[in-house]
Amino acid sequence: MSDMNIRDSRILIVDDEKSICDIIGQYLRKLGYSVSIAMSAEEAMESIRAQSVELVLTDIKMPGMSGVDLLKWVKEFNHFLPVIITTGFPTLDTAIEALKLGAFDYLTKPFHLEEIGEKIRRALLSRQLEEENLLFSKLVSLHEVTKILSSTHRIGELNTRFLDYSVKISRADFGALMFYDNAYRLFIAETIPLPAAENFWSARVFVAGSQWAAKNEEPLTLEAGITTLPPDLMPLPPEIQSYIVFPLKTPQRTLGVLNLVRMRGNISFSNVDMELINVLCSQASISIENARLYHNIRDNYLKTIRGFALAVEAKDRYTHGHSENVMKFTVVLARHLGLSAQEIEQIKYAGLLHDIGKIGVSEAILNKPGRLTPEEFEEIKSHPEIGARIISDVPFLKSLVPIVKHHHEFFNGQGYPDGIAGDAIPLGARILSVADAFEAMTSNRPYRQAMPQDVAMEILSQQKGKQFQPDLIDLFLDIISKGKLTE
Ligand SMILES: [Fe+2]
Repeated sequence: MSDMNIRDSRILIVDDEKSICDIIGQYLRKLGYSVSIAMSAEEAMESIRAQSVELVLTDIKMPGMSGVDLLKWVKEFNHFLPVIITTGFPTLDTAIEALKLGAFDYLTKPFHLEEIGEKIRRALLSRQLEEENLLFSKLVSLHEVTKILSSTHRIGELNTRFLDYSVKISRADFGALMFYDNAYRLFIAETIPLPAAENFWSARVFVAGSQWAAKNEEPLTLEAGITTLPPDLMPLPPEIQSYIVFPLKTPQRTLGVLNLVRMRGNISFSNVDMELINVLCSQASISIENARLYHNIRDNYLKTIRGFALAVEAKDRYTHGHSENVMKFTVVLARHLGLSAQEIEQIKYAGLLHDIGKIGVSEAILNKPGRLTPEEFEEIKSHPEIGARIISDVPFLKSLVPIVKHHHEFFNGQGYPDGIAGDAIPLGARILSVADAFEAMTSNRPYRQAMPQDVAMEILSQQKGKQFQPDLIDLFLDIISKGKLTE
């Protein structure tokens, strides 16, 4: 870091004696600084609000607001703006008080101009370092967070990661994520640490704080011992040192809030903590909104597809409810096989969509009461491939393509469309074919009435090792016998 960067910094000199302002001003201009002058603390505040100021050099004793009051105001307004106090009546107490309140340094009158120059230079360099450090951590955090948060679309996982990360980087003792529900009430979605945390966060002080931050769309900080608060807010209970709440908002709306707490014995959250959490919250809000959007699109898509499946069934008037039933049976079978939640979900949708290709088969053939000609049967046989083609264009459903395509393969290789056998048939398709056959046999078809359940079971049994995988049939028949198929 060089002095070059601080050379054109703007310094605000605050003193009710004009001659002092002029002398110091002239000297600092010679050193290359820009200089503004204020003859009172009130004027200084106006100046700081109106233009960018990099350092404040203020007298303590002035008519009206004192230099100490100005210092307090500056630290609230911009924690990083350095303030150097000058005083004509040096007492250790005022100096210590000023330093405690966050003054960078102090000078006693009469002072040497070189001393002023040196202290200003040190203050500016220190501020620059502080800002660069902050920026650096921000960038690191931003990079990491973006990477972590954008790597999942699962809402629950995203919430956990976000809260975990917030608690870690802010060194908080407790954290809670709250979101708006459909009725615009905040509910607790996630807490750290987990046990008994719901009770902790249900305390009125946090509920009120969360509502305040969400409603006002700005962060809220509550500190131990502070009792004068805006209406609706409550002072912290004695066991808590520091409490911050950040709204989670996107350009369109507020999603909820992030709550962080440090308990008594810990120090309060710093401005750097606040900055970091702020950046984190903006990033997380976008990721959360994206994940929700993704889920909405997915839900809507599945609704559309379900409608599509129903449309196919409407075309084929004998198969009403077939897909929904097949879906249920495949899920039961998959569950009993001990498949993962993800695999079960996949098979479930495949069950719903397996015959979607019938949309491409003529209605006359689908509803023909008599025997099909070989040509007609060929057309029927095209439905798994048509279905596979339809869903292969949909990103969410791509993984179902092999199941849909092969749901009419036989375990012995005598099925269609590819005539593959055994393990070469995707497991989902082997499961689906059992459920499909059973559902078809036990419901009315154009060419025959529904079979009694025991007859259908007998046929399944006879087809072990031919149409179906033997142990899948054993399991399925066992499920039916125990009355667990429709539970
Ligand atoms: Fe089919």
